[in-house]
Amino acid sequence: MALLFGFLAWDASGQKPVLNLIPQPSQVDWRQGSFSLSQKTRLYTNLTGEQREHLLVLLKGSALDLPQTKKERKEQTISLLLVKPSDAYPTEESYTLSVTTSKITIAAPTETGLFYGVQSLLQLIRLAETPSVVPAMEISDTPRFAYRGMHLDVSRHFRSKEFVMKQLDAMASYKLNRFHWHLTDGAGWRIEIKKYPLLTDVAAWRPYESWKEWWKGGSKYCSKDDPKAQGGYYTQEDIKEVVAYAAARHITVIPEIEMPGHSEEVLAVYPELSCAEKPYVNSDFCIGNEQTFTFLQDVLTEVMALFPSEYIHIGGDEAGKGGWKTCPKCKARMEAEKLQNVDELQSYLIHRIEVFLNTNGRKLLGWDEIMEGGLAPDATVMSWRGEGGGIAAARSGHRAIMTPGGYCYFDHSQDDPTSEPESIGGYVPLKKVYSYNPVPDSLTTEQKKLILGVQANLWTEYIGTPEYAEYMLYPRLLALAEVAWTPLEQKSWPDFHRRALVAVEDLKERGYHPFDLSKEKGERAVSLQPVEHLAVGKPVTYNTPFSPQYPAGGNQALVNGLRGGWTYGDQRWQGFLEQGMDVTIDLGAVTPIHSISADWMQISGPWVWMPEYVEIETSEDGKTFAPLCRIDNDLSREYDRLIFREFGWKGEVNARYVRYVAHTDKKGGFIFTDEIVIR
Ligand code: ACM
Repeated sequence: MALLFGFLAWDASGQKPVLNLIPQPSQVDWRQGSFSLSQKTRLYTNLTGEQREHLLVLLKGSALDLPQTKKERKEQTISLLLVKPSDAYPTEESYTLSVTTSKITIAAPTETGLFYGVQSLLQLIRLAETPSVVPAMEISDTPRFAYRGMHLDVSRHFRSKEFVMKQLDAMASYKLNRFHWHLTDGAGWRIEIKKYPLLTDVAAWRPYESWKEWWKGGSKYCSKDDPKAQGGYYTQEDIKEVVAYAAARHITVIPEIEMPGHSEEVLAVYPELSCAEKPYVNSDFCIGNEQTFTFLQDVLTEVMALFPSEYIHIGGDEAGKGGWKTCPKCKARMEAEKLQNVDELQSYLIHRIEVFLNTNGRKLLGWDEIMEGGLAPDATVMSWRGEGGGIAAARSGHRAIMTPGGYCYFDHSQDDPTSEPESIGGYVPLKKVYSYNPVPDSLTTEQKKLILGVQANLWTEYIGTPEYAEYMLYPRLLALAEVAWTPLEQKSWPDFHRRALVAVEDLKERGYHPFDLSKEKGERAVSLQPVEHLAVGKPVTYNTPFSPQYPAGGNQALVNGLRGGWTYGDQRWQGFLEQGMDVTIDLGAVTPIHSISADWMQISGPWVWMPEYVEIETSEDGKTFAPLCRIDNDLSREYDRLIFREFGWKGEVNARYVRYVAHTDKKGGFIFTDEIVIR
């Protein structure tokens, strides 16, 4: 709160005023004093014609919607100046922002730079410690990456164009510049294609609103005229409107049209494009069938007419490829094209589509699976299964965009998943997003230049309302924006956290529904510090092996004193498949024991279950084991939230060896534990 006119809050060290700006600019130099907006403040710009109109429209209703002055004045003026390119502006998005006691000047050689300068100033005014007072400073700002993206899946749950435009507004204010629109997937086709009306008469509709109910109910589509029909699509006019709205905010919209997998909805209405030639059998297009290429090229032709984006995203992820192995047409294609396997068959499709896009002046972008079977010559890879795809792409001279699940997937919970709304699982808190560095150290200087940037992805299987979608996006998208924009050396987690708390309140005032960061519970408490117990560091014999996919700390994982966090993916949880877990721990000497326990988790989405039952035995000589207890699971597979259960024993026994056996119910999936705690 302001005590005096012109009073400014200073940071804890007393060194400089508090800057409430996200993303943190690349350079800020503080000056004495401050600029106070008043009735007398005027807006000046040297922009003319359309550029001027363009800018003024965007300022309508904002703090910069001020009376204008035709001449630049010395006092009480905010100037927006298009200037000559120079070294002060290393990229087309760079700008400078100068605040003195008498003037504020934003300068840039491009409209985009000016736009970003305006975004910074709007935040500075809106979030000023003292209303309408901006501390004097010189900002010189340039983004770290050219590609700063947000993805939205509108297939699993359709969202209105108004919702999309609202998120574009937020993206723009945090200087994000690529909107990756996931328009097609098995759960619904969302873009009008004039040549293929069944895509939007049927494949855009389903008799359930929620993805989960629809999935459980057999994943069927229905006519748009069915009284139960839920879903929707964007008309081509809607698309044009969104694309123009984004362009005005210096955001490129990149459409994604999925192929060859994740295409159940297309194959339900045009079954001749599937290997089975029947609906509801395959999820992949038949690559042996020429009609598939006719269809995809027809669709892409209409898509390219709507989206000026250089990049067209063609999906490419998670094709099952099973149908291709036995399909006569696919087998004939493989023979004719001398393709060794189904990976190469997929690669054949991607190559052909790339040629088609290139012929039309566009570039192909796809998920990292497009590398399987050989990457198309000019393709750009979006690395989602960790960073491996992006690294491999850069090493082979291809461009890459980083979107690894562990940092960039906002469908994971951002706080204690046992108390958060249902999600797909996982745990990606704000701090984790913020910690991400999209440029792997393992790349050479030249290869590093091929990392174009970074993107947050919002998949919406479990995100059924616009409010929940915003809750999952904010404030994590702000952390992503700073990862994408701010030079590494200017990043600071404590300072960002402070700014994010301010930004959450700001977002609420602007009508968004962010997660309440001030109430964050954080990581699973037991995982925060090592635990001491009798088995720590003792040898473990695995009578059944752990899954190589989830080794955690390997042979010592269960006795390393490190408890797991909220997710089995955090390398603290060791995974076991159908044969269960059977381990023997050697305490080294006969020891009085009072308790033996291990925690297990259930999260049904990714098929992680409780053991069916646990047996604990002990022995003094390692040969003869005496049963100590059997603990049966009483948690149903139907329970669909993340939950932890302890399976343990308490009593008095003397033993040197402890055998802990966790049996599975043999219905498939994983069991996970983090530590066998013996006291
Ligand atoms: C993906 O998450 N399947 C790209």
